[in-house]
Amino acid sequence: MLIRHAPTIASSEITDPQVYAGRRDFMRNLAVSLGAASLGLAHGAESREGQGSQFGNLVSSPLSTRDDKLTPYKSMTTYGNFYEFGPDKDSPAKNAHRLRTRPWTVTIDGEVKTPKTFAIDDILKWAPLEERIYRMRCVEGWSAVVPWVGFPFSELLKRVELTGNARFVEFWSLADPEQMPYVRIPLLDWPYIEALRLDEARHPLTIFAVGMYGEVMPKQNGAPLRLIVPWKYGFKGAKSIVRIRFVEKQPQTAWMKAGPDEYGFYSNVNPDVPHRRWSQANERRLGEFLKRKTLPFNGYAEQVASLYAGMDLRKNF
Ligand code: MTE
Repeated sequence: MLIRHAPTIASSEITDPQVYAGRRDFMRNLAVSLGAASLGLAHGAESREGQGSQFGNLVSSPLSTRDDKLTPYKSMTTYGNFYEFGPDKDSPAKNAHRLRTRPWTVTIDGEVKTPKTFAIDDILKWAPLEERIYRMRCVEGWSAVVPWVGFPFSELLKRVELTGNARFVEFWSLADPEQMPYVRIPLLDWPYIEALRLDEARHPLTIFAVGMYGEVMPKQNGAPLRLIVPWKYGFKGAKSIVRIRFVEKQPQTAWMKAGPDEYGFYSNVNPDVPHRRWSQANERRLGEFLKRKTLPFNGYAEQVASLYAGMDLRKNF
């Protein structure tokens, strides 16, 4: 990954998690008192871009982690990777305001009987939106605990019919140089494409996220639709998705092309397999000082290890 500086954040930049909780309660109460419909958020976000708007009626998921302290909202929105907006950790927060998230469509094609294109506001109505609190581990050594808002990947499979050849699924991010200035520069082979094996995508932990901390997804975090696969390194979670393509053969992803011996197809969090340039044994939570041990499959081994039974995870890193 294009590391420029150590993944630390000054403690003065960190918002207390209580502030998030308080802010969320405040916003929820406001939504109730104004009436969710008048905010246009009765079920999902409305057709305006809606950044900063609160979702109503989130289902609290039993698949959420309850053991971890939430990462402050401010850390998650000011420190991240979205190379289409620049290579520094604060580039997405500075530049992603240029992204237009309405109108927005997502095309589903490849190994499907009938390719389809869906408007994001229809996608938002596919399923009740859930709050899923997940640990996220970036390949660079920082981690976070984020209350995502989203729905399972499997909801998509109710809307398209796969051919018998579909074995993998690709996620394509938008690559529009008008909105994303760094797409003009070959930092990566654009568009940003990530991919999963179909059974990984179908796993109940894999979600599409449309928001976080109860709010419509901030642009810098991948509005209006991104992928979250909590047992894999964060780069598997393609942001601002415009195309989902089912394929027969294991795809090349943007990071595999950039560094074939550094970024494997699976990219499962694995403290025993170092990155070529650094150890993966420990991580630092955004907003914390001391490092902690990284867990196999990012702590989700009980749920997902069986997907990889019999595989050599050193070779299939
Ligand atoms: N998706 C796109 N399109 N472009 C990117 O640069 N970066 C990835 C992933 N998805 C990236 C992306 C990486 S390296 C990480 S760690 C996560 O997004 C960061 O997500 P966050 O900024 O919401 O924490």
